[in-house]
Amino acid sequence: MKQLKRVSLFLIMVTSFLAGSINAQPIDKLIEKFEQGAYSKRGADGCLMCHKRADKVMAIFDGVHGQVINESSVMAQLQCEACHGPQGKHRGKNEPMLSFGDDSPLTAQMQNSVCIACHNDTERNAWHSSAHVDNDITCVSCHQVHVANDPVMEKRDQPQVCANCHIKVNADSHKRSSHPIDNGTMQCSDCHNPHGSMSDSDLTGFNVNQTCFSCHADKRGPFLWEHAPVMENCSHCHEPHGSVNESLLKSRVPVLCKQCHAGDIHASTQPGDNQSIQTGGQGCLNCHSQIHGSNHSSGKALQF
Ligand code: HEC
Ligand code: HEC
Ligand code: HEC
Ligand code: HEC
Ligand code: HEC
Ligand code: HEC
Ligand code: HEC
Ligand code: HEC
Ligand code: HEC
Ligand code: HEC
Repeated sequence: MKQLKRVSLFLIMVTSFLAGSINAQPIDKLIEKFEQGAYSKRGADGCLMCHKRADKVMAIFDGVHGQVINESSVMAQLQCEACHGPQGKHRGKNEPMLSFGDDSPLTAQMQNSVCIACHNDTERNAWHSSAHVDNDITCVSCHQVHVANDPVMEKRDQPQVCANCHIKVNADSHKRSSHPIDNGTMQCSDCHNPHGSMSDSDLTGFNVNQTCFSCHADKRGPFLWEHAPVMENCSHCHEPHGSVNESLLKSRVPVLCKQCHAGDIHASTQPGDNQSIQTGGQGCLNCHSQIHGSNHSSGKALQF
C-alpha cells in the first residue's frame, strides 16, 4: 500500500514539475521507469554487484533502513529501489536513478515526496507549512540514511547539524548564559519541531510560554499576584538561545525593568532613597525578588 502511494505521489510531483520545465530529460526517463514499474528482480543484491565497494553505500545495513524487522521494513520490500526508484536499464549511467542532495536533478519537493510517502505521520503534520519546506530544505539536508547512526538523531550531535545553517543561533548558544546544549543535556528539538509545528518559530509548544513550561513548570503559576509580562511572553525578558547577561536576560537589571517601568518609580517621599533604589546593579531584585509572580498574601509588589 505504502509503495503504491509513494509511486503515485512521486508521479504527481514530477508531472507538475514537467509542466513548468524545458529540459527535463533525466526526469522524463525516471517517469517512464515508474510507469513501467521496471523494478529489478534481484533487489539489493543486484545493485551491490556494482555499488558494494563504496563504504558509504554499505553502511545503510547498519542503520534502520537496512534492517528487516517486519514486513513494512524497507529491506523486506523494494529495498534500494524504495528510495532510488526502479532500476530499469540503469546499470551505470544508461538511465539515471532518483538521487538526493544538492547535485540531484530533482527539486526539493520531489526528493521529499519519496521520504514522506513512508513518513507521513503526525510528527510531520505541519511539514508543508514549516519554515524549512518554504526554503527548499530537504529531508536529506538534515538526515543521512547511509550511516549506522544519523547524527541529527543523536542528542550530542544534533546542534552541530543545525549549526551548519543557523550560524547566529549557534553563536548565541555559546554565550555566557545559555541552555546546556553543548554537553548533550539539551537539544534544539526540545523546543523546536524541525518538521514544522502550528506555532511561530516551529516551537514544540503552542507558544513561547507553553514551550518553556514543559521544563520550568514552577513559572506557570497560577499566582495570586502576577507580573503581567511573564504571563504574556517569557521572551519579553529572556533570550532563549543565549545572552551575555546572566539568566539569559535580554539586558541587565535595572535597564531591563526600566524599558517598561520608565519615569518616576519610587520617586515619592525622600529624594535620597530614590537615588539608592535606582542605582545599585541588581537593585530592583533585592526587593522585588518574586519577579515571576507571588503567592504571598502581601506580595502585590512581588516582594515576597
Ligand atoms: C531510505 C532511502 C534509501 C535507501 C533504502 C537506499 N538509499 Fe541510497 N541514498 C539515499 C540518500 C538519501 C542518498 C544521499 C546521500 C545520503 O544521504 O547518505 C543516497 C545515496 C546513494 C548513493 C550515492 C549516490 C551519489 O549521488 O553519489 C548510492 C550509489 C546509493 N545511495 C545506492 C544505494 C543502494 C545500492 C541501496 C540499497 C542497498 C540504497 N542506496 C538504499 C537513500 C536511500
Ligand atoms: C552494472 C553496474 C550497476 C548496477 C547493477 C547498478 N548501478 Fe547504480 N550506478 C552505476 C554507475 C557506474 C553509476 C555512476 C557512478 C558515478 O557517477 O560515480 C551509478 C550511479 C548510481 C546512483 C547515483 C545517481 C545517478 O543517477 O547517477 C545511484 C543512486 C545508483 N546508482 C543506485 C543504484 C541502485 C539502487 C541500483 C540497484 C537497483 C543500482 N544503482 C544498480 C552502476 C550500477
Ligand atoms: C519504503 C518506506 C521508507 C522510505 C521510502 C523511507 N523510509 Fe525512513 N524509515 C522507514 C522505516 C520502516 C523506518 C523504521 C522506523 C519506523 O518504523 O518508522 C524508518 C526510519 C527512519 C528514521 C528514523 C531513524 C532512527 O534512527 O530511528 C528516519 C530519520 C528516516 N526514516 C528518514 C527517512 C528519509 C530522510 C527518507 C528519504 C530519503 C526515508 N526515511 C525514506 C521507511 C522508509
Ligand atoms: C531541519 C532538520 C530536519 C529536516 C529538514 C527533517 N528532519 Fe526529520 N528529524 C530531525 C530531527 C532533529 C529529528 C529528531 C528529533 C525529533 O524527533 O523531532 C528528526 C526525526 C525524524 C524521524 C524519527 C522520529 C519521528 O519524528 O518520527 C523521522 C522518521 C524523520 N525525522 C523523517 C523526516 C522526513 C521524512 C523529512 C522530510 C520530509 C525530515 N525528517 C526532515 C530533523 C530534520
Ligand atoms: C529553550 C528552548 C529553545 C532551544 C533549546 C532552542 N530554541 Fe530556537 N527558539 C526558541 C524560541 C522561544 C524562539 C522564538 C523567539 C521569539 O519568538 O522571541 C526561537 C527561535 C528560533 C529561530 C528563529 C528566530 C531566530 O532567532 O533566528 C531559529 C532559526 C531557531 N530558534 C533555531 C534554533 C536552533 C538551531 C537551536 C539549537 C542550536 C535552537 N533554536 C534551540 C527556543 C529555543
Ligand atoms: C540546510 C540548512 C538548514 C539546516 C541544516 C537547518 N535549518 Fe532551520 N532553517 C533553514 C532556513 C533557510 C530557514 C528559514 C530562514 C530562517 O528563518 O533562518 C530555517 C528556519 C528555521 C526556524 C525558524 C522557523 C520560523 O518559523 O521562523 C527554526 C526554528 C529552525 N530553522 C530550526 C532548525 C533546527 C532545530 C535545525 C536542526 C535540527 C535546523 N533548523 C536545521 C535552514 C536550515
Ligand atoms: C527541555 C527543557 C527546557 C525547556 C523547554 C526550557 N528550558 Fe530553560 N533551562 C533548562 C535547563 C536544563 C536549564 C539549566 C538549569 C541549570 O543549569 O541548573 C535551564 C535554564 C534556564 C534559565 C537560567 C539560565 C542561566 O544562565 O542561569 C533560564 C532563564 C531559562 N532556562 C529560561 C527558559 C525559557 C525562557 C524557556 C522557553 C523559551 C526555557 N527556558 C525552556 C531546561 C529547559
Ligand atoms: C519581567 C521580566 C521577566 C519575564 C517576562 C520572565 N522572566 Fe525569568 N527571570 C527574570 C529575571 C530578572 C531573572 C533573574 C532572577 C534572579 O537573578 O534572581 C529571571 C530568571 C529566570 C530563571 C532562572 C532562575 C529561576 O528562577 O529559576 C528561569 C528558569 C526563568 N527566569 C524562566 C522564565 C520563564 C519560563 C518565563 C516565562 C514564563 C520568564 N522567566 C519570564 C525576568 C523575567
Ligand atoms: C515588558 C515590560 C516589563 C518589564 C521588562 C518589566 N515589567 Fe514590571 N510590570 C509590567 C507591567 C505591564 C506591570 C503591570 C502594571 C499594572 O498592572 O499597572 C508590571 C508590574 C510590576 C510591579 C508591580 C506589581 C503591582 O501590581 O504592584 C513590579 C514591582 C514590577 N513590575 C517590577 C519589575 C521589575 C523589578 C522588573 C525588572 C526585573 C520589571 N518589572 C520588568 C511590565 C514590565
Ligand atoms: C528598597 C526596596 C526596593 C527597591 C530596591 C525597588 N523597589 Fe520597587 N517597590 C518597593 C516597594 C516596597 C513597593 C511597593 C510600594 C507601595 O506599595 O507603595 C515597590 C513598588 C514598585 C512598583 C509598583 C508601584 C509603582 O510605582 O507603579 C514598581 C513598578 C517597582 N516598584 C519597580 C521597581 C524597579 C524597576 C526597581 C529597580 C529600578 C525597584 N522597584 C526597586 C521596593 C523597592
